[in-house]
Amino acid sequence: MGEILKISEIRKEKSYQPLSSVWFGEDNELLKLMLEFYPRQKPRLILDATINRGRFWIGNNYPVIGLDINRRYRPDIVGDNMQMPFRSESFDVVVYDPPHIPNQGKDRQKDFQDRFGLGGKSPKENGYNFSHLYAPFTEEAFRVLIPEGILLCKITDYIHHHRYQWAHVEIINAARGVGFRACDCIIKVRKGPIIDPRWKKAHHSRRHHCYWLVFRKSKKCE
Ligand SMILES: C[S@@+](CC[C@H](N)C(=O)[O-])C[C@H]1O[C@@H](n2cnc3c(N)ncnc32)[C@H](O)[C@@H]1O
Repeated sequence: MGEILKISEIRKEKSYQPLSSVWFGEDNELLKLMLEFYPRQKPRLILDATINRGRFWIGNNYPVIGLDINRRYRPDIVGDNMQMPFRSESFDVVVYDPPHIPNQGKDRQKDFQDRFGLGGKSPKENGYNFSHLYAPFTEEAFRVLIPEGILLCKITDYIHHHRYQWAHVEIINAARGVGFRACDCIIKVRKGPIIDPRWKKAHHSRRHHCYWLVFRKSKKCE
């Protein structure tokens, strides 16, 4: 019996696939790994709460419902992720990739409006950032997830209005505030940093990474 147990433990050990905390590849490849790694069972239904053009799901064969507030991206459902049109406990996983560069124009290489989904402006009262979206979003994500469900957030800190915007800290605080457990953090290294041609002088290090944060609707992570 003891021998059999030992063999099964060895098998278990062999099947252990670590996931690196630093990622140099694409989001869709990382998402695939995360969806194999974190959920307690294979996800039956996933909500992408900011689907945009759905780049995350290229080459991935998961049952995903895409929500976006902007109908021009032709999401499965046009709606606001701060007031989701779904029943409670409908999804195993929620994925979130919010806009993160407020009030930015177009630079020479990138169409920020399209790539980063900058539908609106962020006024002075909101500190020229999008952090005020996190509390209402995480509250809704918590509601629509099943118990033990997973929330995956792609979050970028950035410099705006001469200030470091601590977006990843803000969303961790918001998610904890509504009952999520913050479980893990993967640093995704960007190939090219975001550069605005208006920047003439550097006061901060250049952002070459963003975070994938992993939350669980649970009292424990493991
Ligand atoms: C950064 S993009 C997402 C990109 C997407 N992950 C991809 O790889 O194609 C952010 C998206 O969030 C959408 N969005 C912004 N506010 C929203 C809200 N309150 N509810 C739903 N979608 C929203 C924008 O319209 C935009 O398409």
